[in-house]
Amino acid sequence: MRPDVLETLVSLAKRRGFVFQSSEIYGGTGSVWDYGPLGVELKNNIKQRWWNAMVRERDDVEGLDAAILMHPKVWEASGHVSGFSDPLVDCKACKARFRADKLADAQCPRKPSKKPGEHADCQLTEPRQFNLMFKTFMGPVEDSAAVVYLRPETAQGIFVNFLNVQQATRQKVPFGIAQIGKAFRNEITPGNFTFRTREFEQMEMQFFVEPGTDMEHFERWKQARLDWHLGLGLDRDRLEFHQHSDKELAHYARAAFDINFDFGGSLGFQEIEGVHNRSDFDLTQHQQFSSKKLEYVDQANNKRYVPYVIETSVGADRVTLAVMVNALREEAVPGEQEGRTVLGFHPALSPIKAGVFPLTKKDGQPEMAEKLAATIRKKFTVFYDEAGAIGRRYRRQDEAGTPFGITIDGDSTANHDVTIRFRDDMGQIRVSADKVVEVLAKYLEADHRTADSKLVG
Ligand code: GAP
Repeated sequence: MRPDVLETLVSLAKRRGFVFQSSEIYGGTGSVWDYGPLGVELKNNIKQRWWNAMVRERDDVEGLDAAILMHPKVWEASGHVSGFSDPLVDCKACKARFRADKLADAQCPRKPSKKPGEHADCQLTEPRQFNLMFKTFMGPVEDSAAVVYLRPETAQGIFVNFLNVQQATRQKVPFGIAQIGKAFRNEITPGNFTFRTREFEQMEMQFFVEPGTDMEHFERWKQARLDWHLGLGLDRDRLEFHQHSDKELAHYARAAFDINFDFGGSLGFQEIEGVHNRSDFDLTQHQQFSSKKLEYVDQANNKRYVPYVIETSVGADRVTLAVMVNALREEAVPGEQEGRTVLGFHPALSPIKAGVFPLTKKDGQPEMAEKLAATIRKKFTVFYDEAGAIGRRYRRQDEAGTPFGITIDGDSTANHDVTIRFRDDMGQIRVSADKVVEVLAKYLEADHRTADSKLVG
């Protein structure tokens, strides 16, 4: 079993400004998190990579940004009003709530630690269904006619816009629609840091295909999505497919695989993405509830049909957490008593690409360093730091996951050259100050993470 690193990560995330608890000064809000300066850069880099892979680099997928609030009938058609619920059990003795289907994994909040129902005076109620959608009201009147929901998935915004997008872009089936956006679920048992939260972001794509060709597209997307996760630098042996059994499969789904990532500890392998063959269920439901035809007309072959949908659905927060867990390492440093903590991100994902450090605060070093930082900042994210011992400054950037440290020393002002120090092997190369941006670009482009001068040119 891989070690449980979540506790270490939660404190590092706060210390370095990746993730803070929401409304912390008021005691925090249950399972809602805020991304700090480094966290927002990291998550944006991941979202940007997804958008590039799914929309920009393809000519058969279009982008969309649908609203969070939708017509309430959408959620009747999708089945969320009647079926998006978990079985809830209350304990009348301690007032805790549990998912009835997860009792075996749950912990009673009272000491000594036991499972719900195991203390002598536990009083568990019969399970009742609890709908996970957040309800609110549209307009100033709070009555049942004004009820709307915060969307529990982004997918429905895509289904209801299927014909709008198809007609506006003149795409031919097979084609897809992709979007990134917030989703909300009133989870009964959120937890494990940002793994299961009540407000989160999804990156979803629905690929519309001709019935009969669906399984071939399904297999292709399954592989493409696994490859995308590998491209983020997630270790191959921490990723696996989990095929939904007949019991897990939604009644309308023809096939479903989760991509699971090993978060370590007791959490272990957990879903970060789902790839689903949803048949024509969603479009057919929306056709029925809206009384609007949602057919595709294939003029070339003189056919009309409701397309099948292959869905890829990944949580931006969950992948960000997986990337942080995968990157975290604590290691000894040869010749030093204290070890170091490193977030060894794929450099393309690193929130800060380069730290710039004058060795001392005199002899023109800060001036040269600030000038260099300003030049690099035009192309890459930079952190300028002149405070404290150089070793400490390197350690701070190791924890932030910064792949390159650039040091300006006594020779730099005379020779106009600097040292580039590499996060992963702590090796160093010397380059002309004028070539720093070009050299960083080459190392980033080649995803080359160790100190040899072969890319200096
Ligand atoms: N449209 C299909 C759909 O929403 P899902 O398996 O319920 O499928 C897809 O969700 C992904 O969204 C999950 O793999 C996960 O990454 C993310 N996700 C779902 N619920 C979440 C939660 N409460 N907190 C964080 N991420 C969540």
